[in-house]
Amino acid sequence: MSTLNKPGLAIMTSGGDSAGMNPAIKCAVEYASQRGYEPFLIYDGLNGLIENKIFPATRERVSGILHRGGTVLRSSRSKEFFDISFRQKAFENLKARGVGKLIVIGGDGSFRALNQFYADFGVPFAGIPATIDNDIAGTDYCLGVDTALNIIRQSIDSIRDTASSFRRAFVIEVMGRHCGYLAMVSALSCGAEVCLVPEIPYDLDQIGARLKHEIGQGREYVVAVVAEGVKMSEYLTRFINDSIGMEARLTVLGHVQRGGSPTVHDRVMAYKFAVAAVDALDRGETNAIMVYRDGTYGHLPIDAVANQKYKLDQTLLKLAAPLAC
Ligand code: F6P
Repeated sequence: MSTLNKPGLAIMTSGGDSAGMNPAIKCAVEYASQRGYEPFLIYDGLNGLIENKIFPATRERVSGILHRGGTVLRSSRSKEFFDISFRQKAFENLKARGVGKLIVIGGDGSFRALNQFYADFGVPFAGIPATIDNDIAGTDYCLGVDTALNIIRQSIDSIRDTASSFRRAFVIEVMGRHCGYLAMVSALSCGAEVCLVPEIPYDLDQIGARLKHEIGQGREYVVAVVAEGVKMSEYLTRFINDSIGMEARLTVLGHVQRGGSPTVHDRVMAYKFAVAAVDALDRGETNAIMVYRDGTYGHLPIDAVANQKYKLDQTLLKLAAPLAC
C-alpha cells in the first residue's frame, strides 16, 4: 500500500501508439493525485509490467509531454503476457509497489489482456480507447484518430497538387488494420474520386467505366484512397495505369499517420477520458472501458467492447458507397 489510504494507481500505454496518449497520461497522473492516489507509470507496456519498469509518476516524468506524439511511456505488443507465469510476475511487481489499480491506454487487445489479469489477480483496471484505427466497438472515438486524419488530409492535399500538375492518378493507401474508418473519412473529406474500404463492396469494372467517362469529359487527375485492409493498393494502381490509361502512382502513407503532435481535439478527448477513467476506478469499477457515444461520455463493461465489431457510421457509408463503383 502507498502511504496514502488509497492504493497506488498505475498508468500504462499498450499496443500501437497514437497521438493523445501523452496528454491522457499527464492528465490521469495529475487527476489521480488530486483524488488521493499515489500515481505510478509503467514503461514499455505489458512487457514493462513483467519487467518491473514501474516508477512513481514524478512531476519531471510528465512535464513537457502534452504536445508530443506517440507515448513517452513507450509501448509493446507482449506475447509473454499470454503466459500465466509472466502475469504472476507482473502481479508481484505491482504488489511490491502497492499498486492496486491500473489505467491502460490502448486498443481492445490491450483491454482483453488486462481483463485476463483482472480475472487472475483481481486488479481492477479502466481502459482508455486509443488507436488511429478507430475500430473499438462501443465508442465513436479513439485517441489519435483526429491527429491521424489531419496528417492524411495534409498528405492528400499535397498529392493532389502534383497529381493535377501532371494529369496523373494517385492511389493513397492509409492504415486502419481491418477497419476502413480512416480511409472512408479521408476520402470524403478530401474529395477523392475512389475509395476502397473493407466495409463497402467494390466493383472495379464500374469504377473503370466511370473514370474513363469522367476523363472523357475533361477530368485531369484522379485521387483514390484505399484502406490497407482491402489489400488492393498495388492492383488498383496497375488497373488505373493499364486499363484506364492514366499514368498512376502509389503512395503508402504508412507510419507517418501514427505520429505528430496531438490536435486540440485529441488533447481535450484525452483529458475527458483520463478523468472518466480515474473516476470510474474511484467509484469501484473493476474493468470498465471509457467510451464516447452520440456526444456523451460514459463507460461500458469490457464484454460490450472487446468482443464486438465496430460499425462504421451509416450516413458516411452511404456517402462513400458511390466511390466504390
Ligand atoms: O493499430 C494501429 C496500426 O497502425 C494499424 O493501422 C496498422 O495496421 C498496424 O498498427 C501497424 O502495426 P506495426 O506498427 O506493428 O507495424
